[in-house]
Amino acid sequence: MISPRNDGARKDNVIASHYRIGAYFYDIIVHGLQVFIGGATTWRNSFVRFIHPRRNETLLELCCGTGAVALTLSKRIGGPVWASDLSIDQIRVACFKARLLRRNVNFSVRDASSTGYPSSFFDAVIISGALHEITPQRRLIIYREIRRVLRPHGRLFITEPDLPANRWGAVCFEFMFGQWSQEHETAYQLVHGGLEAELAAAGYHLETTSSSNFGVFKHRRFVVSS
Ligand SMILES: C[S@@+](CC[C@H](N)C(=O)[O-])C[C@H]1O[C@@H](n2cnc3c(N)ncnc32)[C@H](O)[C@@H]1O
Repeated sequence: MISPRNDGARKDNVIASHYRIGAYFYDIIVHGLQVFIGGATTWRNSFVRFIHPRRNETLLELCCGTGAVALTLSKRIGGPVWASDLSIDQIRVACFKARLLRRNVNFSVRDASSTGYPSSFFDAVIISGALHEITPQRRLIIYREIRRVLRPHGRLFITEPDLPANRWGAVCFEFMFGQWSQEHETAYQLVHGGLEAELAAAGYHLETTSSSNFGVFKHRRFVVSS
């Protein structure tokens, strides 16, 4: 585990304070919040199917939280996966789960906008449910850092909340990310194609998308534009 100098990045995560003591309740909260839209397991399994990981691929999950996606990916490919997060407490929980489940994940504390991983090392970078709570300035720096660590033709997989057209999904989106929540401003910037526009401006090409949980989560696959 390395300790980054990450005060700026922490300030740019609008709910960073939730990931101290809250880290130890994080999984319970995520599962609780998603009960009405089919559950967090449905979301995560559908994203991992969308990623369709292959053996021998070098995979990196940024902003990995307590590691749910990275742990599943490592089970699927049967090999090592790299994963990091800004919050030392989230990473402590992730490491505990990896030991318990005997999964091969290299967890570390790192700022996604300045990771220190080698250049052109990863076949794919993955982000799950984190960009919607990070400021747009910081997101741009993260997109640049991902370009640096991705191999040529490497892929970027993202799943983030979206505001769906169906009524139930829209109600649930508002419940989880609406006006009352601290992240509503940053979350709204990404809906209705906002995330795609940001990534196109940052030099990524959108290849395909898919939705889960009544459309409240949208998965995207990008490649770096040549
Ligand atoms: C909502 S959680 C998502 C966690 C996990 N990806 C998941 O699917 O459950 C957002 C995570 O992003 C992390 N984060 C926010 N800004 C970050 C940054 N600049 N670098 C690394 N992690 C960051 C937070 O510490 C938090 O653990």
